[in-house]
This record gives sequence, C-alpha cells and structure tokens, in this order.
Amino acid sequence: MSAHPAPVDEPVLAIKAVGHAYLGRTVLDAASLDIAAGEVVALVGPSGCGKSTLAHIAAGILTPLRGTARRLYRRHGMVFQEPRLLPWATARDNIAYPLRLAGIGRRERAERAAWAAAEAALLPDDLDKYPVELSGGMRQRVAIARAIVREPDFVYFDEPFTALDVALRRRLQDLVIRTARQSGFGALFITHDLAEAARIAHRVAVMESHGRGIVGERPLPGQPGERSDALLFEITGGSFATDPLFRHLYDVDERRS
Ligand SMILES: Nc1ncnc2c1ncn2[C@@H]1O[C@H](COP(=O)(O)OP(=O)(O)OP(=O)(O)O)[C@@H](O)[C@H]1O
Ligand SMILES: [Mg+2]
Repeated sequence: MSAHPAPVDEPVLAIKAVGHAYLGRTVLDAASLDIAAGEVVALVGPSGCGKSTLAHIAAGILTPLRGTARRLYRRHGMVFQEPRLLPWATARDNIAYPLRLAGIGRRERAERAAWAAAEAALLPDDLDKYPVELSGGMRQRVAIARAIVREPDFVYFDEPFTALDVALRRRLQDLVIRTARQSGFGALFITHDLAEAARIAHRVAVMESHGRGIVGERPLPGQPGERSDALLFEITGGSFATDPLFRHLYDVDERRS
C-alpha cells in the first residue's frame, strides 16, 4: 500500500498534498489524488474521514489550508446525497436551472433540458411535476439530469444513492455508468459501498479513518459496465475482502451496506 500512487498521465484533476482543518481540528492531511480525462475514481472511506471536504476542495467550493487542487477540466457538475432541488420549480425547470444561470436562452434551455432528462431516463410526464410529487429515485434522476445538462467533462458524486433501496441504486448506477461512457466525463464518485465502487469506477481510492488522507488506491479490472456479476462478486468478496487496504472500512463503518 502506497501513500504516493503513480502519477496519472495528464490529469484533469490534480489534488496535491491537501490539508484542511475546521475550527483548528485537522480533518484532512496530505491528501493527493490525480484523475485522468474520462476516468471514474471511487473514493471510499468511513463516515467523517473527510471525503466531502476533499470533494469540496477539489471542486473549488472550499479553499484548503494547505496544498493545491488544480482543475484542468472544462466544466464540472455535482450530485449530492440529497437531490437539493428547488421545491417551487418543476423537474424541468430544476434541470434547466444551471442553463438559466449561464444565461442560455429559453428555447435552447428547453432543448437541452429535454435531452438531459431523457439521458436520466425521466419521462416527459415527470417533467411537469414538482419535487414533492416525485419519488426519491425520480428526484435523484432529476439531480443527475441537472448535473449533466451543461455537458460537463467532470462530475462530482457525493454518496448520491446511499438513501435509495438496493434495486433502485443499481439502476441509477447503470445510468451513471452509461452516461459517463457516452459523454466521456471523468468523475470523483464518493461512496460507502465497495460493491458500488466496484461497479462504477475504473479505480478505487481509499481514505484513512482519521483524516489522514488517502492511504492507497487499487485499479479495477476491465471497464465499468462490462464487469459480470461473478467478477464483481470476486472483487468485493475476494480480493477486496482480503486486501489490508480495505480492512478499516469493514471494521469501522457501520453504515456500509
Ligand atoms: N463546516 C464544518 N465545520 C466543522 N466541522 C466540519 C464541517 N464540515 C465537516 N466537518 C467535520 O470534518 C470531518 C470530515 O467531514 P466530511 O463531511 O468531509 O466527512 P465525510 O467523509 O464526507 O463523512 P460522511 O461519509 O459521513 O459524509 C468530520 O469530522 C466533520 O464533522
Ligand atoms: Mg460526506
């Protein structure tokens, strides 16, 4: 296990020796991670280890106390654990909201929102509904459509499916895998679920329990979307289960499903 993984060719996201503290308490120390164009990296680690903090620093929402986060992608989208939709706007207007902020005209907004909604497998009927009228899975589809509506080349996912049941989670994982492949975006995908990481990502990065940053990385065999259930079972039940890198996840994390 190495705290200094091999450098990635031409990263679109380069996080270098990032450290952060809240109210004087260190929550991240010397975290480094590179992600290449079109590469999906799963970031796993127990609750409170600093995953969201690292993602916020990477996305430029939070300024780190130490280290740097260089963003070389063109534009990013974000999906959070809760959908964070505007309650007074329809699904369609929620999806189009980033386009409105970008000053894009009404007709183009409508066209692009319809495209993103279709990508997220939302039906036209759903688009006139308000968030309260949608199921949890539908809301998260709206959040995904909103994240991709400006055709980002990088997307941050912060435990987007943790609140959903297993079958729904699988369908939305497939949706992410498909849209990532089609549009070629790279992603930082935070999850508690190693099985989810094994399905979605090209590579898994593991965070240490006590804010000491990324303790190691493992490449995943094959391509997301092409791994058989047997292979996924062998990864999560076999190689990951016996790999000391993942041991603290099994020990510490009671929320892991
Ligand atoms: N704004 C804040 N002010 C003070 N402390 C914070 C703040 N945000 C996060 N923390 C603390 O920093 C640590 C890391 O938090 P962070 O949200 O990054 O963890 P996480 O790995 O994303 O956890 P989870 O898996 O539960 O989402 C935690 O101990 C948390 O309580
Ligand atoms: Mg978090």
